[in-house]
Amino acid sequence: MFTKDTLKEKSILITGGGSGLGFSMAERFAELGANVAICGRTEEKLVNAAEKLNRFGTKIITHVVDVRDYDRVGKMIDRLVEEFGSLEGLVNNAAGNFVSPSEDLSPNGFKAVVDIVLHGTFNCSQHFGRYLIHSERKGCILNIVTTYTQFGSAFVMPSAVAKAGVETMTKSLAYEWATYGIRVNAIAPGPFPTKGAWSRLMPDPRIEKIYLERIPTHRYGEHIELANLAVFLMSDLAPYLTGETVIIDGAEHLQAGQFNFLTQLMPREELKKVFAEYKSRRKSKK
Ligand code: HXC
Repeated sequence: MFTKDTLKEKSILITGGGSGLGFSMAERFAELGANVAICGRTEEKLVNAAEKLNRFGTKIITHVVDVRDYDRVGKMIDRLVEEFGSLEGLVNNAAGNFVSPSEDLSPNGFKAVVDIVLHGTFNCSQHFGRYLIHSERKGCILNIVTTYTQFGSAFVMPSAVAKAGVETMTKSLAYEWATYGIRVNAIAPGPFPTKGAWSRLMPDPRIEKIYLERIPTHRYGEHIELANLAVFLMSDLAPYLTGETVIIDGAEHLQAGQFNFLTQLMPREELKKVFAEYKSRRKSKK
């Protein structure tokens, strides 16, 4: 589907790009010709990631910043534009999350997650959007959200609230900035294990076991699957696609279907027997 120059002549910033899904996207972007900037709070993580990204031969820049800091985010965008010559893409991937009963959250715990996810996305998007608008360049923003934006989720309420805000920001900016040639999309990943997320969200092996069982495809997503979707959305292959959230989760979010639980009740072959018995009982009554 992609050629080695699918992202050539694009420079893309990935927040939280030093590890996890951010790093996987960075690798794929660089492999397909993009210059990539990764930012995050921990310099060591960024330096190690950059060493690996350098093998693709494109320009790689690391920048230490907390996306919660509006002014420093602005300085980062200025630096990247100067060093790359231009900036065509932004992936708002940096996130904060942990599991906690909502009644036990401290105000600061709630604030930490919302600040990173919602304010961080605003800070990066506004600075990047202003740069594009003032320099009359086209560009692309991709927000990483979650599948629980629509119905919320117990025990990760601050993340659900903030990611829902980001999804609404995606649609709002897509409409408002379409006139400037700026596309804004989102990806809602289902279960793509990363060390950062899984250590915070799966503190007990029993949680992970049940979690895996309820995914209808019975497997986790592979990072390359998400990275390829991100490439498509960030590339020139999708110029008319904006304001959209693409869910990639092996149909996990569709479990709300009212009779979907039947396959959790008994194996499919047993279910088929139950249905067949009901059918023959009905026939014999006629
Ligand atoms: C309760 C907690 C807590 C926990 C932190 N806090 N962890 N409260 N349970 N497990 C509280 C602290 O006590 C503190 O409040 C406040 O949160 C801020 O904590 P700090 O550690 O000082 O903040 P900070 O260093 O800014 O860290 C932010 C963070 C942290 C969000 C708390 O987890 C983090 O940096 N995360 C980044 C990486 C990450 O979370 N990745 C996963 C994203 S996965 P007090 O009141 O004590 O001061 C994702 C997708 C999910 O979003 C979808 C999966 C399918």
